[in-house]
Amino acid sequence: MDKEQSSFAKSVQGKDVRLYTLSNENGIRATITNYGARLVSLFVPDFKGDTFDVSIGFDDIDGYLHSTQPYYGATIGRFANRIAEGKFTIDGVEYQVLPNNGNNALHGGENGFQSVVWDLEFVNCAAVKLSYHSKDLEEGFPGNLKVTVTFELTSDDALRISYNASTDKTTVVNLTNHAYFNLNGESAGPVLNHVVQINADKYTPINPSSIPFGPLAEVKGTPFDFTQPLTIGGRIEEKHEQLENGKGYDHNYVLDSHDPQEAVATIIGDQTQIKMEVFTDQPGLQFYTGNFMNSTNIMKGRHNDDFRTAFCMETQHFPDSPNQPSYPTTLLKPGEIFQSFTSYRFSINK
Ligand code: BGC
Repeated sequence: MDKEQSSFAKSVQGKDVRLYTLSNENGIRATITNYGARLVSLFVPDFKGDTFDVSIGFDDIDGYLHSTQPYYGATIGRFANRIAEGKFTIDGVEYQVLPNNGNNALHGGENGFQSVVWDLEFVNCAAVKLSYHSKDLEEGFPGNLKVTVTFELTSDDALRISYNASTDKTTVVNLTNHAYFNLNGESAGPVLNHVVQINADKYTPINPSSIPFGPLAEVKGTPFDFTQPLTIGGRIEEKHEQLENGKGYDHNYVLDSHDPQEAVATIIGDQTQIKMEVFTDQPGLQFYTGNFMNSTNIMKGRHNDDFRTAFCMETQHFPDSPNQPSYPTTLLKPGEIFQSFTSYRFSINK
């Protein structure tokens, strides 16, 4: 076991936690831990051929166990994003997830999928498959849910994350990965000069506790318009009620209808020219600019997790879908299989 691996070898909740390395034929390398089915690091070359770790995280398992921000790189479930007051009703029965974010439930409740130890199966040197059995009423959600998440480095330099879930009772499911990216390298400071394009004409406006309300909003003519490539920081301080409610960008974009082979978003690191394209079959994308990063944790490279030093592109269903009948459904019934994918593909901006 090398040093990197031994710093993740620990028994947690009576199960073995480990670090696994994936690599592809072009030298892209990712490390994954089964604590939270989590991306720990992702090494990608820049335009000079130097390699940068573009994923924020910790050097060792204790960093993740004690972090004040629990979601770095993790698989998020059973329900990514917020559920208003943690309450929802299925077939006339009300369920309650205990609020862990003000009055609302965030990312599946206090002990969501980020904080459990997954079983891991090594597929090949470029892929691992993790599985978890979330029990009936765990965190308040109905149904025994069997979930698998596969991380794969593809030959076209993408990290492809595929989800699969089934239940024995009707439930709600919304799965994503919460990688925090900095395409200039994980300790390179604020991401405000990264250039972002998101193929979405609309987003879901939020109230001050980040629950969506009202009709979908048009991005046109607002600081939310990323239909053309623009920097993250260019308009983030503008006076706009939605930027105030999100403390910056922390909003679900309603993705234009698209083929899963078409990128839904493209981000470029201004210093490295590393380009990341996002692909998904999901209807939404939470664009989050690290507005709640507050320097309390010491990360890889011995730097703190300072304000806006990373961004997230969380592909997903819309927030609070269980309570918003006009949104695409997040119900999963017995006999159905939930499947989705997110792919982050890397290249050099030319
Ligand atoms: C949410 C943020 C939250 C963050 C926590 C994001 O998905 O939208 O509001 O602070 O997760 O890591």
